[in-house]
Formats: sequence, C-alpha cells, structure tokens
Amino acid sequence: MKILVIGNGGREHALVWKIAQSEKVTHIYCAAGNGGIQSIAECIPIKSTDIKALLQFAIQNKIDLTIVGPEQPLTLGIVDLFQQHELNIFGPSAKAAEIEGSKVFAKNLMKKYGIPTASFESFTAVADAKAYITDLNQPCVVKADGLAAGKGAIVCPTLQEALTAVDTIKNELGAAGNSIVVEEMMEGEEASIFAVTDGTNYILLPAAQDHKRIFDGDRGKNTGGMGAYAPAPVMTSALLDRVKEEIIEPTILAMANEGRLYKGVLYCGLMLTPGGPKVVEFNCRFGDPECQAVLPLIKSDIVDMFLSVVNQNINSYKLEVHQQSSVCVVMASGGYPDLYEKNKEISGLDRMTGENTLIFHAGTDLINGKVYSSGGRVLGVTSYSEHLSDAIKKAYRAAEQIHFDKAYFRKDIGYRALRN
Ligand code: AMP
Ligand code: GLY
Repeated sequence: MKILVIGNGGREHALVWKIAQSEKVTHIYCAAGNGGIQSIAECIPIKSTDIKALLQFAIQNKIDLTIVGPEQPLTLGIVDLFQQHELNIFGPSAKAAEIEGSKVFAKNLMKKYGIPTASFESFTAVADAKAYITDLNQPCVVKADGLAAGKGAIVCPTLQEALTAVDTIKNELGAAGNSIVVEEMMEGEEASIFAVTDGTNYILLPAAQDHKRIFDGDRGKNTGGMGAYAPAPVMTSALLDRVKEEIIEPTILAMANEGRLYKGVLYCGLMLTPGGPKVVEFNCRFGDPECQAVLPLIKSDIVDMFLSVVNQNINSYKLEVHQQSSVCVVMASGGYPDLYEKNKEISGLDRMTGENTLIFHAGTDLINGKVYSSGGRVLGVTSYSEHLSDAIKKAYRAAEQIHFDKAYFRKDIGYRALRN
C-alpha cells in the first residue's frame, strides 16, 4: 500500500515510524514532513492546508490511504474532498471536526447531551463578555471559539486577568476570537484519552498525560505540550469506565445524531475533578506530544486500525498493547512559546539508538546531512520500558546527549505519576 501522512511535526514522525512497521506498506509519503521524517518517508513540499494540491498528489500517485495529522486540513474539509474522489482517508469530516474547530459548537453539544464539562457562556461582543465576567467575579477560563494553535485558552485566577484575556483574544487571534467562551475553572489532574472510532464503535488507546505549561511544576505559559507519558496511572479502570459511559459513548452518539458521524480519532482532554471526569476540550486528531508516547506502546498493525475506521468495522481490529510505559520529553527552542531563534545545528542525535529510545523530530530541517532546528518544539525524545521510572531515566539520559544552542526542556516529565 502507498500511504500519505499529512503534517510536519513530532506527531507525524511518530505516525510515519509506526506505519513503516506494517507489512502492508510499500511506500510512505509525508506532506510536508521534517528533517527526521525524511529518513523513513518521501517528503513532499505541500502544505497541510493546501488540500486541493494534496488531493491532486494523492490521485496522481495512487495513494491507497491518507492519514491526517493536524486539525486545520480536517476543519477545511480534506476528508470530504478525498471521499468525493473515492480515496481512503483517516479522519473526521469537516462537520465532525467542528468538535475541535468551534468551542462554542463543542460546548453546546455537551450541554445538549448532558456530557460533563465546565459550565460556560459564549459571547460575540467584548462588552457582554466583560460584563458577565465582572458579574461572575470568580476564577474562570477565557477561550477563543476557533483554532488558535494552543493559544486559545487563558486560565484566569483573577477578575483583572479575565478582563485582559478577553482583549488579548479579540486583539491577537483574528477570526478565531470572533466568539469567546467564558468557562468555570475546574480543578484536578488532566488526562488525554484517544478513542478511535468508526462512528458507531470505538477502541481506546492507552491514556496519556500531557504537560502543557512551559516550566517545571506546571508553571508559566501554556504551550503545545512539553512532554507526555502513557499509560497514565491516574486513569484507573473504574475511572475509565465512567469516562466511556459518561463521555465517550454519549459523544459518539451525539455526533451521529446531529448528522456529523465522527470517524477518526476523538481526543478527549479531561479534567479529573472531585465531582468526576469532565471534558476540558475535544480534539479531532491525535495529541502532540501524546501521540509520540502512545504509539510506541502499540504492538498491533496501526494501518489495520486506520483501515478498520475507514471501512467502518473497528470491532474487527484487535488492538494489542505492550505492557510497558513510555515517556516523551520535548526539547524546545529557548524562548518558546514566545519568540525564539531557529536554524541551530543539532548534535548528538545518534548517540542513544538501540536503548528503547526514539527521537521524534518536530521542528527540524535536514540540510546537507546536518539537522537544524526550525520550530518552537524541536524534538520529542521518547523512551519506553517496563517501568515508567526507567523510561523517564532513559529519556532524560538521551536528552542530555543532544545539543543545540539554547535548547530547553522540562526536567519533570512523568514525575507526578511516580508520586501517585
Ligand atoms: P484547551 O485549549 O481548551 O485545551 O485548554 C488548554 C489548557 O487550559 C487545558 O489543558 C487546561 O490545562 C487549561 N484549561 C482549559 N479549560 C479549563 C477549565 N475550564 N478549567 C481549568 N483549566 C482549564
Ligand atoms: N497536546 C495537546 C494537543 O495536542 O492539543
């Protein structure tokens, strides 16, 4: 089979790496890929948002299956477009992807179907949002309705922060901030669950925990994610049963009921509150960097999993999982998530191969045999082992071997799970 993977980050490197293990696969293309993906897939210079060019490429190259990594092409309707041309593609339709593309849609869906989430109101006028926040006068979270690349949610412990957050979203996020959601602030540990669904049935991949803040101890600004581990011990089987019954099953049903059959991976970002698990957000794709931690744990053929979703028979897929733990430490450019410098040469990438360690590239370029940084999140150093503590040690040992000017990574990825 000829496979096309769309995207250019660490998540896509992990997808390509896992897909390459399938005996069914003869060739992998990646649009646009990065400096690491290039060693296992043929990278083609088409942007993930240029869905018409991607369609042409898939037709011309007789692609058997396309896997979409990021959310933008999904919300732009790449799945609808490919299906109109009878091409196999893994991911939700534009209408289904709205579960991530519009927070107002997702919140209203949850409200309508009684799916537990933070209470909220949505606004289009700044003055109305501010009046509500002033009246509420309690810690809240201010969110942009649309896609904002991880910058769309501002956690506001104080009234003043919340009022400022409204202006920030309106002034800095363009159309994504046309509507604003103001939510109750929830307390608890977070977990990310991936339900792979054909629209009716589903399977769950190992639960993961992301580390969204830039600094150790979950301090500082939110980022795309600074590291992740899986499985997350906080997600006990009793809790998981609740999540299935109260969140995943009703959401899949609700989407079908709304005429938005959801096929693909439904990422449930959860807050495990004292009152039970509640939805923080839904995403219409794999999480990044959770994907880098989760995929090494999967033993079975992932191409079969994608095909079973496309063919609407996920129940025929036998998911097999390694009984191990995995951790991904993100190495970022100094300064991220604010301004940072790029084009730094990276050394030490070959030093840890063979020790159950994988270096997934996120923002890198390969130029004349040398690897350079090209983004905020640069690498996802991933190790797996029978014990999480050992996986953490291995990942950090590998990260210490890798150097580029102003490289930054958190030193506490996975530690919370060891304390529990
Ligand atoms: P989101 O973009 O909705 O995923 O939010 C990004 C991050 O903000 C989440 O992972 C949480 O850490 C935090 N967050 C979002 N909504 C809430 C909420 N209602 N209560 C507390 N924290 C939240
Ligand atoms: N790691 C969070 C996300 O992918 O949205």
